[in-house]
Amino acid sequence: MAEFALPANSKIDRNGAAYPAPSGAKRVKSFKIYRWNPDDGKNPRIDTYDIDLADCGPMILDALIKIKNEIDSTLTFRRSCREGVCGSCAMNIDGTNTLACTKYIDDVKGDVKVHPLPHMPVVKDLVPDLTTAYAQLASIEPWLKSETPPPERERPQSPEERAKLDGLWECILCFSCTTSCPSYWWNGERYLGPAVLLQAYRWIVDSRDEAIGERLDQLEDPFRLYRCHTIMNCTKTCPKGLNPAKAIAEIKKLMVARK
Ligand code: SF4
Ligand code: FES
Repeated sequence: MAEFALPANSKIDRNGAAYPAPSGAKRVKSFKIYRWNPDDGKNPRIDTYDIDLADCGPMILDALIKIKNEIDSTLTFRRSCREGVCGSCAMNIDGTNTLACTKYIDDVKGDVKVHPLPHMPVVKDLVPDLTTAYAQLASIEPWLKSETPPPERERPQSPEERAKLDGLWECILCFSCTTSCPSYWWNGERYLGPAVLLQAYRWIVDSRDEAIGERLDQLEDPFRLYRCHTIMNCTKTCPKGLNPAKAIAEIKKLMVARK
């Protein structure tokens, strides 16, 4: 899996508050969690929470919820479905971008380090600001575009046409891939990033969509598409096992084919 380390000169206070496990705890695990509050004027810090795993669910998200409910209600993170379908609990766990709700605590050796998705502005603690990423998603117009009047029932697809969407429709827009990509880290204002490009390809290959030329025109740009340098972090980190790098390569092939 792709791994990311904090910069050595980061102004993070690594000795934040420590919350010991309750006396009599049977199976203690330490969670070292990034904390930052925009309202207190202080640098970010790492707080340590010792949890008794004998009294906690098996997933990282279970531990975060336990901390928030029982130890420190100020800990802030996003979550909704707790089963890997909403994408809201994406964060950096043990050096890898993934979903807190599908990551087993026991899969992490030693202390569990939890940070927000890398290289994004932070709203608070583990909550990244995804405003730019959502604006980029809107820019590719991720909906069916067709001049053909809608039929009375549905727009049919053959099984082969439908199969082309497999590996694409499953994307939950967690942005784990985009925030693992060095090209996006350095050019995130102009490069669309793997999540949005996978979405763009999902509509380009949809047999019911009639805007392929317009969609490719919109992507034909040295930054929006071609800042992808096939680093492959996106594919390594995707918690749904998808391959955004392949989707980007397929868009590039279509660009060549139409010249
Ligand atoms: S491709 Fe994977 S990592 Fe990227 S947004 Fe979709 S589900 Fe998340
Ligand atoms: S809470 Fe929905 S994907 Fe984790």
